Amino acid sequence: MSKIIVEGGRKLSGTVNALGAKNAVLKEIVATLLAPGRHHLTNVPSILDVELMTRVLEHTGCKVEAGHHELWIVVPDKPLPEAPIELVRAMRASIIVLGPLLARCGEARVALPGGDDLGARPIEWHMHGLEQMGASFELIHGELVGTIDGRLKGTEIELPFPSVGATENLLLAGVLAEGETVIVNAAREPEIEDLIGQLTSMGAQIEGAGTSIINISGVESLRPADHKVIPDRLEAGTYAVAAAITGGDVTVTGCHPDHLRMELSKLADSGCDVDRGDGWLRVSGPDRPSAVDFATLPYPGFHTDMQPQMVALLSLAAGTSVITENLYDARYRYVGELARMGADISIEAQHAVIRGVPALSGCPVLAPDIRAGAALVLAGLAAEGRTEVSDPTHIDRGYEDFVGRLASLGADIHRS
Ligand code: EPU
Repeated sequence: MSKIIVEGGRKLSGTVNALGAKNAVLKEIVATLLAPGRHHLTNVPSILDVELMTRVLEHTGCKVEAGHHELWIVVPDKPLPEAPIELVRAMRASIIVLGPLLARCGEARVALPGGDDLGARPIEWHMHGLEQMGASFELIHGELVGTIDGRLKGTEIELPFPSVGATENLLLAGVLAEGETVIVNAAREPEIEDLIGQLTSMGAQIEGAGTSIINISGVESLRPADHKVIPDRLEAGTYAVAAAITGGDVTVTGCHPDHLRMELSKLADSGCDVDRGDGWLRVSGPDRPSAVDFATLPYPGFHTDMQPQMVALLSLAAGTSVITENLYDARYRYVGELARMGADISIEAQHAVIRGVPALSGCPVLAPDIRAGAALVLAGLAAEGRTEVSDPTHIDRGYEDFVGRLASLGADIHRS
């Protein structure tokens, strides 16, 4: 199994450019299913999850051609409305095809995803919303088989929680539904606003992007479009923490610092100098971070996908930090790996109490998921001696050339 090997102790410095956002592009690839013809996406990151999502589309009969940071997707008149278990298991986000396939084909057979490294992750809000729009579901041999009679019907759907995936599934279904669909308590993530931008270029009529009430006036058909994916705030934030944890000084260009307001303010509270401008941010880390408390929340709250990186930083703080994880029931699985490096962290239900230690000590650790994998690499950058992070495939799912980009900032890091 390949490994990422880090020799800790170097301060990172320099500039890195943020690439396209994983959690926008995955849904934007799926959105192309809504219109036959040739679509074009640019600023597409070269990450494993993009490859996996293009396989899902190829399974439905689309032709996908990849260039450097761009994709051309040719969608057939009649896509095959299914996503089998091997594709859904490889990447849970594949279930986002449910809404668009129902809208486009009147039926969908999508394997029910089980839980994953972050917990149970049910999808009942996606299904209930689609049922309110006229879909019926049956679970047959592990596959959700959805059908509609005629066309999906627009209606008002109130989500119990601003779920990113449920908002997107209903949005992708609503654009081709008959009449008006209103999503109340919608997620407000910038990636959803970007998806709405793409759908609007395709001819969809949507109001309320970036707010918690999204109004969609369904249209009969959509057309292919060109779309540039927004920058990845999580990638930018991860490099910001890399600067913070090594006491270094890193500028991230090509990003939207406004999308990281809460995370940058917590980095400032931890003693970092944070500067930002139009399309860039700069973080320089203190000799030793201060303790900081935070709770993860839907946007614009502190992003759960920045929690492990921040915990790695706070494990070295002078003082005790208290973190509350509100999104996932199993997000702290990586803490045992950080403890092997000398971190002093206790978990009680959704809370983590992090008693900062003066130093971490490098050792072999296992990357349990994308963000925790990145966090362990960051911990390794600051640790004494050598850290070996096994199973870096998780990191490849969400970060393009993580090792090369950290090395370009001065890290002593390579892959074996
Ligand atoms: N939930 C339910 N029922 C549902 C839907 C969601 O109980 O029907 C719960 C989930 O179990 C979770 C919470 O609601 O506890 C929030 O889930 P949400 O639906 O918002 O998340 P998601 O759409 O499954 C996306 C990102 C995640 C990110 C979350 C939260 C993608 C591909 N994934 O997941 O990103 O953590 O939103 O912001 O967009 C990552 O990039 O590493 C990652 C895990």
